[in-house]
Amino acid sequence: MCPPHFGRTRRCAPTNSVNPDTRAKLEARLKYYRDVGIPAFYRDRAASAAADPSRESVGVGLRPARDAVSADARVGLKPAPTKAPTVQGKIGDLKVAATDAHSGIGRAPVALPVMQAPGLFDAADRVEGDTLERIQADIGPDCRLCKLCRKRKSIVFGVGNPKAELVFVGEGPGADEDAQGEPFVGRAGKLLTQMIEAMGLKRSDVYICNVVKCRPPENRTPEPDEIATCSPFLFRQLDAIKPKVIVCLGSVAAKTLLDTNASMGKLRQQWFEYKSSKLLATYHPAYCLRNPPSKADVWKDLQMAMKELGLEQPKRKK
Ligand code: URA
Repeated sequence: MCPPHFGRTRRCAPTNSVNPDTRAKLEARLKYYRDVGIPAFYRDRAASAAADPSRESVGVGLRPARDAVSADARVGLKPAPTKAPTVQGKIGDLKVAATDAHSGIGRAPVALPVMQAPGLFDAADRVEGDTLERIQADIGPDCRLCKLCRKRKSIVFGVGNPKAELVFVGEGPGADEDAQGEPFVGRAGKLLTQMIEAMGLKRSDVYICNVVKCRPPENRTPEPDEIATCSPFLFRQLDAIKPKVIVCLGSVAAKTLLDTNASMGKLRQQWFEYKSSKLLATYHPAYCLRNPPSKADVWKDLQMAMKELGLEQPKRKK
């Protein structure tokens, strides 16, 4: 059994038995794929088989795993799964016994090679050669995937450096952001900008985006179905940028990226792994505006990020 952890890159030793929790997650994920029209598929193991010919003997006489991958799954243009990708290592290293995807039933299970990174769920989320432009184009000019489309004025995609080493992830646009089409431009945004500048950076050095791209009415918290529908675009943005550091602003972002219900008090002041990035969670600037002493806590968290990024700590005023 792997020790509990957040993040997606830690790996555990492969296991032959599937625990009930993992099985349920796996079944839910596969059901989702069936619901959106993606037939059963398996990871492309052709590359690892080529690199290690001994692996080719596995499953001799049966269709290679590559041929069992559906065209849709390989092209990767379908929206990624609706739930946050499950923590790698809990399920990323499962040995999966596959049956023939297209003939369906009756084939004997095939013992496939032990998985190499990325794991099953990471591979499913990833769009090869993805770019921010392509993600924005996939959202389109008039996205209708969830009910937030009814009242929004703008789709607030994200702003900043597409090669940023530091990405801030908020919750969702407010009224000002909805009006201007840019994240974090209202009161909370001005505070975030001050914090970025206190780090010795400009807004244009970093990338800023949100979990949901459309304003929830009355600035309510985005609902689970809205997060589930929109967060795959966030996952793709992070995959495309591959920042060194991700800072989650508030618990909606932290819960979405870490797939946890832990409170911010428990999450902050420590590093998590999110794919190849390091992830830090801190209070949302709107919370700091309501509760000014929390600004000092956020600054402590941002100093951790600065250290990780090799940024010089500002000199203390005498
Ligand atoms: N709050 C957020 O979470 N995001 C914004 O873009 C603005 C306010």
